[in-house]
Amino acid sequence: MRCMKVLGISGSPRKDGTTARLVHKVLEATGLDFEFISLAGKDVRPCMFCLGCARDNVCKIKDYVSTVRESLVEAEAYVVGGCNMWSTLNGLAHNFLERFYQFHHLDQNPNTGKVGVAVGVGAENGRPPAVLISSMFQEFGIRPLGSVVAKGVYPCYTCGVGDTCTISNVQGLDAHGNIDMSRKPCLDTQPDVIGHARRMGERIAAALSSDSSGC
Ligand SMILES: Cc1cc2nc3c(=O)[nH]c(=O)nc-3n(C[C@H](O)[C@H](O)[C@H](O)COP(=O)(O)O)c2cc1C
Repeated sequence: MRCMKVLGISGSPRKDGTTARLVHKVLEATGLDFEFISLAGKDVRPCMFCLGCARDNVCKIKDYVSTVRESLVEAEAYVVGGCNMWSTLNGLAHNFLERFYQFHHLDQNPNTGKVGVAVGVGAENGRPPAVLISSMFQEFGIRPLGSVVAKGVYPCYTCGVGDTCTISNVQGLDAHGNIDMSRKPCLDTQPDVIGHARRMGERIAAALSSDSSGC
């Protein structure tokens, strides 16, 4: 018998970035069986509004999402993370969540009654992705338990061109226009965020504590 209770999804295009690490922190704090998937490098197409799922709740697009559909059905709770790109949720994560529409028909929505925690990361502001994920949870019948928001990295700190680029953010960030790596945020320097991630994990565990599946 498979006992996956919590499904963590990092929707960032970077496999081992801040979003993936923060989703892991929440998962580990649940103390429950979990599965983690990263969408980095995966073929995740948007909902095409074909309505092919309307009669059987199965999306007809064959891509990465179709390979994890069973995990989506089995999960009792979700931890979904995305990063800020152009002041909103990044496209890869958004595409993935759009495909939850396949479950949203008839009276057979497997997500009804599930719970979710949203994780948002941004160089400046991780709140927009977290807000959007929470709102999509609600659309799909998943009860949002809260969110965790962290600072990620400025692309201009990591692109390799850095302070010789005339349109780099770095000039605005560092007084002398040089890349000061001590200013590069990372999760380890955000203990308050890690503490909040732990509380969110514990909240998931409390919400599922009445579960009697035997796993
Ligand atoms: C093209 C692009 C646009 C971005 N736009 C924003 C933005 O509008 N606001 C922001 O706070 N961060 C922005 N970021 C920064 C990312 O959110 C940040 O690098 C984050 O750490 C990426 O998540 P990850 O560490 O999980 O990969 C942008 C990054 C890229 C590559």
